[in-house]
Amino acid sequence: MSNEELFKKIISHCKEYGFVFPSSEIYDGLAAVYDYGQNGVELRNNIRSYWYQSMTRLNNNIVGLDSAIFMHPKIWKASGHVDGFNDPMIDNKDSKKRYRADVLLEDHQEKLRQKADKEVEKAKTRFGDTFDEEMYRSTNPRVSEYMASIAHIDTTLKEGLETGNLEIIKNLIEELGIVCPISGSKNWTDVRQFNLMYSTQMSATEADEALYLRPETAQGIFVNFLNVQKTGRMKIPFGIAQTGKAFRNEIVARQFIMRMKEFEQMEMQFFCKPGTELDWYAYWKEMRMKWHLSLGISKDSYRFHDHVKLAHYANAAVDIEFDFPFGFKEVEGIHSRTDFDLGKHEEFSGKKLRYFDAEANENYIPYVVETSVGLDRLFLVLLSACYAEEQLENETRVVLRFPPALAPVKAAILPLVKKDGLPEMAQKIYDELKFDMNLYIEDKDTIGKRYRRMDAIGTPFCITVDYDSLTQEDVTLRYRDSMEQKRVKIKDLRDILNAETSIASLLKTL
Ligand code: GAP
Repeated sequence: MSNEELFKKIISHCKEYGFVFPSSEIYDGLAAVYDYGQNGVELRNNIRSYWYQSMTRLNNNIVGLDSAIFMHPKIWKASGHVDGFNDPMIDNKDSKKRYRADVLLEDHQEKLRQKADKEVEKAKTRFGDTFDEEMYRSTNPRVSEYMASIAHIDTTLKEGLETGNLEIIKNLIEELGIVCPISGSKNWTDVRQFNLMYSTQMSATEADEALYLRPETAQGIFVNFLNVQKTGRMKIPFGIAQTGKAFRNEIVARQFIMRMKEFEQMEMQFFCKPGTELDWYAYWKEMRMKWHLSLGISKDSYRFHDHVKLAHYANAAVDIEFDFPFGFKEVEGIHSRTDFDLGKHEEFSGKKLRYFDAEANENYIPYVVETSVGLDRLFLVLLSACYAEEQLENETRVVLRFPPALAPVKAAILPLVKKDGLPEMAQKIYDELKFDMNLYIEDKDTIGKRYRRMDAIGTPFCITVDYDSLTQEDVTLRYRDSMEQKRVKIKDLRDILNAETSIASLLKTL
């Protein structure tokens, strides 16, 4: 199956099994806005809980916050978003489609990378065991040409973005012969900057100053820094973690829930002593990769990508990228944001945002290391990594191999037949376990069909209640991945399931 086919299958699977629906579907949808269905909301809640608990429970110097989406308009001036939160856009005059110029260039780089990899793969087959990949990559003229072109795009794009000379970027697109994916033409407009914030107003009488929907949750943390530090008696270094909605007017919204106009972020700002920030940056870079790998996804599916253009607030920045069906793309950003934000809020609010360091006997504006991950992108990571089609003896099964602790439904309780007291016994088991986990109970269809439906939503366990259960007080426990079945006592179910499906069980792997 090609990656394109796989991606299409994932999208339709999400709709068919109640994970993701297009927003306002009966009105033909709303571009780049999505709703989460009955299984999607459970998966999202579990990912969010795992992130939040890993931050706040496993680190006794990190606490939570839930700041409002509406914030004082001056905040976005201070943070630099009003003036600098732009994307470079370019239009194709023939298709009338608008693109992010930097994304067009990154896609072109990915194609070059794939071509280089193909050359290497071909050579590997040709030379067999004697093949020296490193040597081949550095000496083969065609591979070197691809790599040189990738590096040239990096430096030229960086120059264009840093100097603000967008003509450089347009020239690069023309020089590389990049065509519009819709019209196939090279008939491009100039590159222009486009601000991504949505503006609104607080009330009809306060129309003078624009109010923005927050484009990131981080600013709510910065402006509450002293509130939390003082009331929580926090000592530096410490962190504040928050999850919540953010809004961006993404012109090039595409790839399903990858780039949405309304999405959710999970951000943590770590406040530290100036001069220690790069050590903390290295620490969080490693910790966050460890967190991603704890989801059981192959190491090869992740990579670090250092930023070409540092955001206006950062002195170091890296993305954690995942190999989606459409290539490696950012899932999480880790930024060393210096004292930029707190410093700017001091300047714009006129209020001191300093920390008194009793040990050093000095006042300073703390430096900040941020970890920022998109909940919706993590959702897509899990679907991309866990979707599998398996050929069984007489049929194909679709299975979502989610980490059990994140699965929407932890166990399905299935009476073998709809009579003779089996449904009642299933209900009794359900009632005993329902306080610990999300369950599903069903007595329709053959047991095989019911197993398939549970595989398709990633339920790690099925509990089958049969005639023996009535006398033996035991059930058949079926494992999703191995499809192995074993007999277990009803009284042991809670412990067995909790050991494998609780968020705590996943937290213990960190
Ligand atoms: N506070 C820093 C910040 O907002 P960012 O790299 O712009 O940094 C952080 O965003 C994360 O938010 C990204 O790594 C991505 O996972 C997620 N994200 C950003 N824009 C998104 C969008 N339009 N749709 C879905 N997720 C998005």
